[in-house]
Amino acid sequence: MEKNNGVLSLVKAFFRHVSKRKKIHLVQLSLLMILATLAEVVSLGLALPFLSVITNPENLYTSEYVKPFVDLLNIQDASELLLPVSLIFILTIILSSIIRASVLFFSGKLSASIGSDIGLQMFSNSINQEYVVHTRQNSSKLVTGILNKVDVVVGGILAPILTIVSSILVVIGITFTLFYINPTVTLFLFFFFSFILLIIFKFTREILKENSFIISSKYIQLVKILNESLGGIRDILLEKSQDFYCDQYKKIDVPMRFSGANNKFISGSPRFLVEMLGMIFITLTALYLVMFNNGIENVVPLLGVIVLGAQKLLPVLQQTFHSVSTINGNIGSFKDAILLLEEKIKKVEVCNKNITLSKNIKLIDVSFKYSIECKNVLNNININIEKGSCVGFIGETGSGKSTLVDIIMSLLSPSSGILSIDGITIDESNRSNWQRNIAHVPQHVYLFDSSIKENIAFSVNSEDSEDIDNELLNKVVKLCKLDSLVESLPDGLNAKVGEMGVRLSGGQRQRIGIARALYKRKPVIVLDEATSALDGKTEEFIMNSIRALQVDSTVLMIAHRMSTLRNCNKILEVRRNGQIIEHKDVELITQA
Ligand SMILES: Nc1ncnc2c1ncn2[C@@H]1O[C@H](COP(=O)(O)OP(=O)(O)O)[C@@H](O)[C@H]1O
Ligand SMILES: [Mg+2]
Repeated sequence: MEKNNGVLSLVKAFFRHVSKRKKIHLVQLSLLMILATLAEVVSLGLALPFLSVITNPENLYTSEYVKPFVDLLNIQDASELLLPVSLIFILTIILSSIIRASVLFFSGKLSASIGSDIGLQMFSNSINQEYVVHTRQNSSKLVTGILNKVDVVVGGILAPILTIVSSILVVIGITFTLFYINPTVTLFLFFFFSFILLIIFKFTREILKENSFIISSKYIQLVKILNESLGGIRDILLEKSQDFYCDQYKKIDVPMRFSGANNKFISGSPRFLVEMLGMIFITLTALYLVMFNNGIENVVPLLGVIVLGAQKLLPVLQQTFHSVSTINGNIGSFKDAILLLEEKIKKVEVCNKNITLSKNIKLIDVSFKYSIECKNVLNNININIEKGSCVGFIGETGSGKSTLVDIIMSLLSPSSGILSIDGITIDESNRSNWQRNIAHVPQHVYLFDSSIKENIAFSVNSEDSEDIDNELLNKVVKLCKLDSLVESLPDGLNAKVGEMGVRLSGGQRQRIGIARALYKRKPVIVLDEATSALDGKTEEFIMNSIRALQVDSTVLMIAHRMSTLRNCNKILEVRRNGQIIEHKDVELITQA
């Protein structure tokens, strides 16, 4: 029972994320479902007069229900009833089918649009998180979260819920109609089959859930192994470790697929049992009616209606069972989906006071660790960076250079201590005002799938690509030594990056990244190993370019080549113990 509550509260939590408009659509859809049920009931109800008129027209002709109808059409003879009754019967069947098809169409459409809303919400939630949240998160979980969970929510939860609602309506409608026609048989039919399905449900529910958790966790592992292996394809090829990875893949994939197949079988297989028992039931009912009622012509219409009703009722009961099982079989992923939806985005009061760097950037007594369990990456450090200076950061890999620079850019907040710009403490409220001053070049430059020109000059914040400052663009291209590359391309600056994808070398990509940062003309430029793929000469040329283009800009650069740092005013070495040593002269370090 408690677990069942779990499903309900999850569904409730889910509907909190469905927009009001979609909820209104859901209500409209429910009305359509009620209409479909009514049509179903009417067509079933009309089966009785139809079958009567075939077997025994006299009986129907004298019935008091049909009397107004007979008078209206001025029917003189019982056999004249045959045509109008058949026509009405056919019409209601057509109408009922059309309505049912519309229910199917609209519920599919609504599920899809709710699914796409939900996916967008998850994506937006994720990329609106602070950087520190991303440093803690396994991105495979996020990718599967968004791709697979939306499918689960739509196909495994929402669609079954709609089916259950419409099925329950139909079950109620048909049961009542049949009950009116023959209570004994109907009660037996309804309770017997509900009982059987309930029993099956009770015994299979835990298996379904267990399988669902296997499926959702294996799926995450599968995406992880795909990401990792394709990301490290060079090593796999060199080490010839393909078999190892295939083995790993198989170990994850096989149990996942089998759990899926099991769940499909469990939720689909009672059909055969129900069909079998249904046929036996109908046969026994026929025997019972013939033995205890007088005259075959009275039994046939009644039997016909019961067969028709059972034939409608049983699939719907089975569908309800299937839907409930499907929901249980997807609980695992559904839970993950809700978690992604409920992920809170920290809302902060944003102060709109501008921050411009006019004196210095200071870190005062700053310590930092990524999480409570980890040890400090930075330990009580104090640094002072003057405006317009060039500061180099050195240190072994993993010593904390990127972390330090991320703190200066306020992507990460110090665990203790403060970052201050011209004496103003940077916190959540003014963080984005500070970040507006910074152009960042990462080691791995991400290129958009568009032209070189747009990759350098396009800003997501300006929608008009006409805004490109061609003079600045050309200057930046020269300063970053991209001119020879551009000249070698038939389309020049308009050449599409995507089309030459692999043809761009690491160094060319990095230079495009630097050009992009320079084009932004920000007062602070941060280069995190952004010249690692360049040769010494090009690197020096570009470093000089940066200073030449923006004389009073402040440059922070992480480098692994000492020669790059020759022009720096100050060199900060990040030590493994999380402390900083300041060097004034490059030559001294190389000697040490
Ligand atoms: N997301 C993270 N979660 C936990 N520890 C991290 C994370 N990122 C980096 N670290 C740890 O912080 C230390 C410094 O990393 P980093 O600043 O990237 O070094 P560097 O840039 O000098 O190579 C390393 O020991 C690394 O293991
Ligand atoms: Mg780094």
